Parts: sequence; structure tokens; C-alpha cells
Amino acid sequence: MALMGKRILLIVSGGIAAFKALELVRLLRKDGCAVSCVLTAGGAHFVTPLSLQALSEERVYTDLFSLTDESEMGHIQLSRSADLVVVAPASADLLAKMAAGIADDLASTLLLATDKPVLAAPAMNVRMWLHAATQANMATLAARGVHVVGPDEGAMACNEYGPGRLAEPPAILDAIKSLIGTASSASASASAPQLLAGRHALVTSGPTHEPIDPVRYIANRSSGRQGHAIAGALAALGARVTLVSGPVSIADPPGVSVRPVETAADMLSACEAALPADIAVFAAAVADWRVAKPAALKMKKTATGKPPALSLTENPDILASIAAAGPRRPKLVVGFAAETHELAAHAEEKRRRKNADWIVANDVSPATGIMGGADNEVHLITADGIEHWPRLSKQEVAARLAQRIAAAFA
Ligand code: CTP
Repeated sequence: MALMGKRILLIVSGGIAAFKALELVRLLRKDGCAVSCVLTAGGAHFVTPLSLQALSEERVYTDLFSLTDESEMGHIQLSRSADLVVVAPASADLLAKMAAGIADDLASTLLLATDKPVLAAPAMNVRMWLHAATQANMATLAARGVHVVGPDEGAMACNEYGPGRLAEPPAILDAIKSLIGTASSASASASAPQLLAGRHALVTSGPTHEPIDPVRYIANRSSGRQGHAIAGALAALGARVTLVSGPVSIADPPGVSVRPVETAADMLSACEAALPADIAVFAAAVADWRVAKPAALKMKKTATGKPPALSLTENPDILASIAAAGPRRPKLVVGFAAETHELAAHAEEKRRRKNADWIVANDVSPATGIMGGADNEVHLITADGIEHWPRLSKQEVAARLAQRIAAAFA
């Protein structure tokens, strides 16, 4: 319940993805967060005020010039009544208005009037997203401190494929938690005892992408949520954090220096460049193999119909390389292990083989629902034995791990 007692002003603009805003409201309410919804005229073509009202249990605002709205709460007051303004989905049109400072309806007026942080979750057709105008608008907004989550890449309602899909509601929820959640918010970090002040922490997160040719790659489904949450939780305790992240569609944790990478080889180089570090947490789902010789040009189908054989080669083990004994070894090295059976034995074996101090192990059997979910149930394996932690949100696991790390340095 990292959002207990917090309030979000949720602006829902137009687009087929607007229906996902309903799920976001449900998740926010489940986390103890109050939600005031604003629906644009475009958004109202896809979801109704009534659905948003039923889920948020609050009245929904639509009209800038509604006398009723003004008598109950003026738009300036509304724009400042929340801890965070979230725009999901954020259409190309609304993002353009935000970048240009246009205020011609309730949503754009609130966005111009607010003094609160803003998180935008863009969703639009792939061509619209890649258009130079939209990219210029995004650069303007980023320079002004607007946080962004997504868009995801995938098949679109318009039968095209590419970046432009609204980030999934759990990913938007995570981005919200990393901005204002009690475990990692700026206010929490200011008030939390700075137990790791003066320490440098290196964290890896997300998947890696291993190229097959210029347009194809091998990847995995890691969202980066656990690794990003750990980076944020360590920063909240005062550590200087370098987050080496594979391609993810979640927001950067506040107060963390992010090094984006694509491949395992890039991730290893970025980690080596980040040393020395006192703490290293390896939460990334690094691809075990890469294509030995990625094709320089796009591979084409042949007349024979025979598919190409991909010759794979093993990637370097980043955890094992950084944890190898030597003067640059971080004092505390923490690895992860995802297991489906004999968890304790496999995780302990991994701890020894990779020379890690601790392993955070989780059971990723399909029945646990942990893979890709918002929660995690982990076991902490150290030289002293195994500790079972209860089922917690990934933010809570991160906060608890950060506390354990701080205790180890106390
Ligand atoms: N890891 C890494 N570099 C790799 C592979 C894994 O740094 N090339 C790290 C992960 O970030 C994680 C830990 O090693 O902290 C465990 O990864 P995992 O893939 O589960 O371990 P493996 O040794 O590949 O074991 P398995 O046989 O279970 O795949």
C-alpha cells in the first residue's frame, strides 16, 4: 500500500487505449490511493464518465466552463489538489498542447496550471509517435521535467506494429509508486534516515536485447520493475545509485543515474565503467546467449523456404565477472535467482558459483503468478542460511532489501 493516503489527478484523453485507464483507477484504489478523474472530449468517445466515477468513487470532471464544477472546486484548485497529475492515455494532441502551453479545455488548462509533478503515458499510432513533431514535443516535455512511462512496442489496434501502445496499467502504477510511493518518493527519501549516504550502489535491471540482424533481436519478458524499485529504494536511503538498465518501458526511479544499454556485452561494459561501487545488485534478466554473428543486413527469406540456423554463443556472466575476487569487487554483491524447483539448493549453488554474498531467490513456477506480476515472494540466501519473506509488492521487497543492505553496512 505504497500509495495509501495519496491522491492522483488522472487525465484520460482520447484513444482506443482509454479503456485501460479504468484498470489503472482500479489498481490505484486497491493501493489506497484517491483518484480524481478528468475526461477530455476525445476520451469520452472511448470511456464514459460513469465508468470512471463508479471505479474512482468520486465525481468526474469534464468541462472547463461548468458552473457546477467551479462552484464545487475551481480548476486551479483541482490542478493542485493531487500529489501527482497522471495523463493516461496521453494522446499526441494533448502532448502537443502540453508542449505548446495551450489551455483550451479542462485537461490542458489543468496541466498548464498545476504546480505538481506530471507523469504522461503516451498512446498513439506508431507513425504519430515516431513523427518528428511528437518527438520534439516529448523532448520539450522531458526537458521541463515531465515524467514519461511507455509507450510499449507491439501490435496496434490500427493493424500496425511498433512503439505507441499505452504502457500496461501495472507498469503505470509502478511509475506512480516510484514517483510518490512511500517507499521511494522524494519526500520519503528526504525524511528516511540516510543510512547509505556516501555509498555507491550499482544495480542492473530489465532484459537485454541480443541482435539477430539490424531489425530483429532475442529478448525476454523482464519488465525491470524489481530492479528499478531496488535502485529507487537504495537512493531513498541516500546511496548514489548507478542503474544499468536494458530496454524497459517504465519510468526512471527518482534520484538515480541511469545508463541505458541493449546487449549483455554493453551491460557488462557499463557495469565495469561504473566501478568502484560499495554495493552491486544484479536484478537484470540477462540473455544467456547471443547470436554469434549478427547479420549486417536484414536477413531475407530464400526461395528454398529453409529457415536460417542461428548459431548462438554464451554471453558473459555479468554478476560473476563483477563478483570475481579482486580489488574492484564491491563489498556486497547481491544476485537474483529465478527457480521453479529445489529453490534453496539451486540458489545456494548459484551464490557460491557466482561468488555472490547474497542471492534473492524466487519461485517463478506459473502457479505463483509472480512472473510479470506486481508482487514478489522471495527468499534471501546468505552465508548464514535462508530467510523466507512474506508475499510483498515489488516496491516493498525493494525497500526491505535496501534496509537489509543498510544494516549490513551499519
Ligand atoms: N546474470 C548476469 N549475467 C548473465 C546471466 C545472469 O549477471 N549473463 C545474473 C542475473 O542478473 C541474476 C543471476 O545472474 O542476478 C542469476 O541469473 P540466472 O540466469 O538465473 O542464472 P544462471 O547461472 O543462468 O542459472 P540457470 O541455470 O538457472 O539459468
